[in-house]
Amino acid sequence: MDKGFILWFTGLSGSGKTTISKALEPELKARGCKVEILDGDVVRTNLSKGLGFSKADRDTNILRIGFVANLLSRNGVVAITAAISPYQAIRDEVRAMESNFVEVYVKAPLEVCEARDIKGLYAKARKGEIKGFTGIDDPYEEPINPEIICYTDQESLQESVTKILGKLEELGYI
Ligand code: PPS
Ligand code: MG
Repeated sequence: MDKGFILWFTGLSGSGKTTISKALEPELKARGCKVEILDGDVVRTNLSKGLGFSKADRDTNILRIGFVANLLSRNGVVAITAAISPYQAIRDEVRAMESNFVEVYVKAPLEVCEARDIKGLYAKARKGEIKGFTGIDDPYEEPINPEIICYTDQESLQESVTKILGKLEELGYI
């Protein structure tokens, strides 16, 4: 397949965006897709280095990721993005840049993400050591009409991957 598209993951920290995107990559490659992952955590060490977590900086980060994802997708690459992308308006702005846009809401209750606390950031946020942490003292706007929802507190990783692949087939992307 040489059809590019953007697979846009959104969800709370610790919801499973990075995990699902990494598991999806070999599956898409096995189907002949060229794939690039733009993970918020990684992008913030290069393309978005120096940006913080104010609304303005998050919006800038998301627009940068959207811009690069768009360049990739129009050249036949599957651009997978894995950033919290907490604001609906900016997600919609990115969606408007590229018609081949598939939004995946990686959904898990805050309590579950907080209990996982893979990076120990929720504990720091609760102690006030990190200010403006998404879901604690900063907003997360749930997607209004995502193409796919992965309930990562109820589904296995494989189930989420299979669900996404099924939807991409249904939409004619793979
Ligand atoms: S955003 O809102 O989309 O620009 O965020 P993103 O680029 O995805 O970066 C989120 C990762 O940064 C870490 N981190 C924070 N997240 C949310 N709020 C605050 N204040 C914060 N500070 C650091 C965290 O590890 C996020 O990674 P994930 O993979 O989402 O857990
Ligand atoms: Mg991550």
